[in-house]
Amino acid sequence: MRFFATCAKGTEGPLRTELSRMGLKHLKGDRGGVRFEGKLEAGMRACLHSRIAMRVLLELATFPAPDADALYEGARAVAWQEWLTERTTLAVDASVKDSALTHSQFAGLKLKDAVVDVLRDRLGARPDVDPKDPDVRIVLHVARDEATVSLDLAGHPLHRRGYRAAMTDAPLKETLAAAVLALGQVDPAKPFVDPMCGSGTLAIEHALAARRIAPGLGRPFGFQRWPVYRGQPQSRWDQLKEEARAAVLPAAPAPIVARDFAAKPLEATRLCAAAAGVLADLRVERADVRDLAPEWPEGTLCTNPPYGERLTGTHAEREARRGEEDRRGPRGGRPSPHREAPPDPHEERINLKKLTGLYRQMGETFLRHSGWEVVILSGSPLLEEAFPFKPLVSHRLWNGPIEARMLRYRMP
Ligand SMILES: C[S@@+](CC[C@H](N)C(=O)[O-])C[C@H]1O[C@@H](n2cnc3c(N)ncnc32)[C@H](O)[C@@H]1O
Repeated sequence: MRFFATCAKGTEGPLRTELSRMGLKHLKGDRGGVRFEGKLEAGMRACLHSRIAMRVLLELATFPAPDADALYEGARAVAWQEWLTERTTLAVDASVKDSALTHSQFAGLKLKDAVVDVLRDRLGARPDVDPKDPDVRIVLHVARDEATVSLDLAGHPLHRRGYRAAMTDAPLKETLAAAVLALGQVDPAKPFVDPMCGSGTLAIEHALAARRIAPGLGRPFGFQRWPVYRGQPQSRWDQLKEEARAAVLPAAPAPIVARDFAAKPLEATRLCAAAAGVLADLRVERADVRDLAPEWPEGTLCTNPPYGERLTGTHAEREARRGEEDRRGPRGGRPSPHREAPPDPHEERINLKKLTGLYRQMGETFLRHSGWEVVILSGSPLLEEAFPFKPLVSHRLWNGPIEARMLRYRMP
C-alpha cells in the first residue's frame, strides 16, 4: 500500500526523519508531505506516533482527469467495495490545482457520484453522505489534470491530539510546534523554557516528546470506523498502542518552564497540559520575558513571540489568514469582529515600533543565557533585524498561509 503523510510546507525534512525512525519504508519527500509504503499497519503506526504529520492518506488510485467524464470513469474503476459498504457514511474532500477542472466542489461531486454508483451496482444499495462526521473520508486531489484518490486514515487532522481543553487568541498548531522542536534540535535532556508560551503548545509538545508519549494515544482515528478494520480482530492496533504505552517515561528528564506575562493564556496552558497528562512536568509562571534570568548553566529557550501579523501583514495576507481561520473555525466558529475594519496606518507604525522594541529587549535578555540554545518560530523579519546576534540556522516554513522562520541561535 502507498501512503502520503501531509505536513506544513517546509517541515517535510523532520517529518521524513520521524517516519524513518518509526521504521517506515520507501520514504520519499515531496512538497507538503512524505510518501511511504507498507501494510495498513504502517499507516496506523504513522497516525499513532507522528508528531509532525497533519494527515495520513492511503492512496487508492491515480489516473488522468482532463475533464469531469474522465474523472468519473477513472473513479469508477476503483474497487470501492473493498473499503465501503452500503452502510458506511462517506465524505469527499476535493482540491484542484493547475487543471482544466477548476472547481473543487464540482470535482468532489463527480467523485462522490462514481463511488455511490459503483456501490449501488455492486451491492444493490448506496451509502449515505455525511460531510461532518463520515465513517470514511475520501480525499481527491487533481493536479495538472491527474487525479489522486485516497482515504484519510486520521479522520480529524492529527494536530487535534485531544488536549486542547482551552483556546487562546493565536495558538500554534500542535504539529507545527512539534516541527519547530525537531528543526531546532531541542534536546529533551536539557532544561526547556518558553518565556512567551501563550497556551503552552511548544512546552506541552516538548513534554510529550521528552516523556515519549505517543501523540495519538489519547484520540480515535478515522480508520477505526472503516469496515476493513472493524471486520478484523483488533489485536495489531491494540498491540501498537500497548507498545506505545509501555515506552512512556514516568517524568520528563529535565525541567520544563512555561511563562507568559498574561494570566489567561497561562490558565489555558494549565488546562491543556493537564488534559495531555504532562501538567506535573511543567512549571507554569506569570512573568515578563524581559525579567528572565538563567536558572541552569545550559538549556533551550524556545518560543513563538508575538509578530503583529494582523497589523503588519499585507492586506491579502490578512484576508488569507482570516479565510483559513474561518474554515478551521474552532475559535468559537465566528468570523473575527475586526473582519471589516481597514488597517490604520498610524496604529500599524506604533505597533511596529513596539514590536521592534520588544524584540530588541528579548535579544538582550537571551544574551544573558550564555551557552544556551535559542529556538524561535518567528513570523516577522523585524526579529532577526532587532536581535544583536546571527542565527546558526534560519529555516523557512509555513504557518498556514503565513511564511515564518525557525531560527536557531547559540548564545555566546
Ligand atoms: C504568538 S503568542 C504565543 C502562542 C503560543 N505559541 C501558543 O501556541 O499558544 C505570543 C505570546 O507572548 C506573550 N507575550 C507578549 N509580550 C510578552 C512579554 N513581554 N513577556 C511575556 N509574554 C509576552 C503574549 O501574551 C502571547 O501569549
